[in-house]
Amino acid sequence: MKRYLTGIKPTGRAHIGNYFGAIKPAIEFSKQQDAENFYFIADYHALTTLQNKEDMIEYTYEIACTWLACGLDPNKVVFYRQSDVPEVFELNWILNNVTPKGLMNRAHAYKAIVERNAEAGVTVDEGVNMGLYNYPILMASDIMLLDADCVPIGLDQKQHLEIARDICHNFNLKYGNILKEPQYYIEDNTCTLLGLDGRKMSKSYNNTIPLFCDEKTLQKTINRIVTDSSLPTDPKPLDCVINKLYKLFASESEQKVMDEKLSTGIGWGDAKKELYRVMNEYIAPMRTKYDYYMSHRDEVDKILEDGAVKARKIATKTLQRVRKAIGVN
Ligand code: ADP
Ligand code: TRP
Repeated sequence: MKRYLTGIKPTGRAHIGNYFGAIKPAIEFSKQQDAENFYFIADYHALTTLQNKEDMIEYTYEIACTWLACGLDPNKVVFYRQSDVPEVFELNWILNNVTPKGLMNRAHAYKAIVERNAEAGVTVDEGVNMGLYNYPILMASDIMLLDADCVPIGLDQKQHLEIARDICHNFNLKYGNILKEPQYYIEDNTCTLLGLDGRKMSKSYNNTIPLFCDEKTLQKTINRIVTDSSLPTDPKPLDCVINKLYKLFASESEQKVMDEKLSTGIGWGDAKKELYRVMNEYIAPMRTKYDYYMSHRDEVDKILEDGAVKARKIATKTLQRVRKAIGVN
């Protein structure tokens, strides 16, 4: 049976771009037969930038409840917090020592900051902490600790997986075939959602539609979608942001009716009302679950603790193997 593992960073409220681009495909992926799935909340990766106690607690629950509400089944997926599996930090230290510094210098996230600093005329390492610099090694540790066969990721994480494979290779070259070399899988049929202003929906552009908020906020947010000043009777382009979003939530027959209305003329206000209706209908059952978990945090803790117990069973075995191989047992 193949073992799949992936990490989820708690970085604030999920938006519908995260849902269609990452959460939904990963949950569907976890439902395949003959696979073991390990999905974890990478809270110690978030610590590189998230350095406020209240936000750390809140974001961690928000992301855990979001995934549970969206259909992650704890019986099918071992769901845990990275920080509940302390073995990862011992492996992390060990892997530090087979990782050339130059490999980290070439990591995209670090390189981007260095380049930005150079352009701004400040010292190259301004604003870089060692956690950020070593981020890819911790990620390699997450993966190899659990003997993962394959890591489903978004395209933005590809370099991190190449680095993990390099680190694995370096270790095995020195100590024998001890660590499993991870493959990765990039889902290529995910879509990129556009935000309120027509650019890619992203927290960094502040143009998102939150996945879980109250109905009034959802309605108000949809009303902020930027449109032009055409009259209700004017035909509208079928590839407008409103229609692109509509297609994700509406049935085929509803989509046909909307296409028809846009071609012959419908006011933007009415189109937004109709978008709100289908979106709310789609999200409401998940929102109910989300609200339930957010107010039953002990249940969430229990799920994550159970997951950590399962993950640690594998982790301790890997670590024993590694310690023996390097001669510290
Ligand atoms: P943000 O850009 O809002 O900070 P993240 O970088 O935290 O989002 O992305 C988390 C996951 O959600 C990634 O796998 C990313 O590919 C996916 N994602 C983010 N924004 C979108 C979007 N607009 N459309 C589709 N997927 C997205
Ligand atoms: N770096 C990943 C991200 O930002 C999160 C992550 C941490 C991860 N550890 C991992 C992903 C291990 C896959 C495997 O999305």
